[in-house]
Amino acid sequence: MTKKSKKFEGDPNTTGHVWDGIEEFDNPMPRWWLWSLYLTIIWGIGYTIAYPAWPMINQATTGVLGWSTRADVANEIAAVEEGNAAINAKLASVDLTAISGDAELNTYASSAGKAVFATWCAQCHGSGADGIRMGSGYPNLLDDDWLWGGDMEAIHTTITHGIRNEDSDDARYSEMPAFGRDELLEKEEIDQVVNFVMSLSGDAQDASKVAEGAVVFEDNCSSCHAEDGTGDREQGAPNLADAIWLYGGDYEALSDTVNNSRYGVMPAWNTRLTEWQIRAVTAYVHQLGGGE
Ligand code: HEC
Ligand code: HEC
Repeated sequence: MTKKSKKFEGDPNTTGHVWDGIEEFDNPMPRWWLWSLYLTIIWGIGYTIAYPAWPMINQATTGVLGWSTRADVANEIAAVEEGNAAINAKLASVDLTAISGDAELNTYASSAGKAVFATWCAQCHGSGADGIRMGSGYPNLLDDDWLWGGDMEAIHTTITHGIRNEDSDDARYSEMPAFGRDELLEKEEIDQVVNFVMSLSGDAQDASKVAEGAVVFEDNCSSCHAEDGTGDREQGAPNLADAIWLYGGDYEALSDTVNNSRYGVMPAWNTRLTEWQIRAVTAYVHQLGGGE
C-alpha cells in the first residue's frame, strides 16, 4: 500500500488505499440508499413493538397488537366451525337411518367421521380400522362380523357408551366366566371344549374330544355363544364358528380365553365427543364395509 502523491482537481475523494494502482473511493452513500436504511430501522423498531419479538425468559414480548399464530389458528377454527354449524346441528338431530339418504349430509358425515376416527379411534382399531396390527382384542371394523351389532343404531350405542367401562352405566356389558381360574371346569373338560370350539370352524384335532366337548359346550357355553356357537350380540358374545378371532383361534389362545376369560374395554365417547362427532364416526364406521 502506497499513498498516492499527486492529486488532481475534480478527482473524487479516495480513502488513500491503493492496490495495484486501483484506488478506493470514499464517496458518500446515495441519498435514496441512506433513506431506505433509516426507514428500515424505523420499521424494524415499530415492528418489534407491534408484534411478538424480543425473547424473554419464558416467552417473547407479545407486542401491542396482541397477534399470535395460536390466536390466528383459533380464529380459523372458529370460522370453520361457524361455517359448519348448520350441518353439524342437522347431523346431530336427524334420524340415524336418514343420514345415508341425504347425499350432502352423508358425504359430510363420512369425511368428518374419518377425521374423528383418525384422532380418537385409530390408536386401538388401527388407522385402517382393521385392528390387526394392534394386538389381540381390538375388533376389525371392516368386516361384517359384529360383536354388538352393525346397524347404525347399534354402532351408535356402542360408540356413545363404550364397552365394559366404568364411566357409563349405559355401557355395553357382559362377562365371560373364567372357567379354569375359578375352577368351574376340569382341565380335561377345558381341553375337550377347546377342541370342540376349534371344530366349529373346521379345525378339529381329536374326534372323541370334540364329541365330549360338544356336551361341555352345550352345558356351559351355549347360553351366551348359542347352541351352534354363532354367538349372541345381546351379550357381545362372539361368533365362534366363523374363523374370525378377537383373541386368537389356536389351541393356546383358546385355552387361555376359556381358562381366564377376557374383558375387552372400550371407553365411552359421549364424554369426549359431541353428538354430531359421534354420529359422523358412526356413519364412517358403518360405511367401512360391514355396515348392516
Ligand atoms: C382404548 C382402545 C379403544 C379405542 C380408543 C376405541 N376403541 Fe372401539 N373397541 C375397543 C375394544 C377393546 C373393543 C371390543 C370390546 C369387546 O370385546 O366387546 C371395541 C369395540 C368397538 C366397536 C364394536 C364392534 C363390534 O363388533 O360390535 C365399535 C363399533 C368401535 N369399537 C368403534 C370405535 C370408535 C368409533 C372409536 C373412536 C371414537 C373407538 N372404537 C375407539 C377399543 C377401543
Ligand atoms: C356369560 C356369557 C358367556 C359364557 C357362559 C361363555 N362365554 Fe365365551 N365369551 C363371552 C363374551 C362376552 C366374550 C367376549 C369377551 C371380550 O370381548 O372381551 C367371549 C369370548 C369367547 C371367546 C373368544 C372369541 C374370540 O373371537 O377370540 C371364546 C373362544 C369363548 N368365549 C369360548 C367360550 C367357551 C368355550 C365357553 C364355555 C366353556 C364360553 N365361552 C362361555 C361370553 C360368554
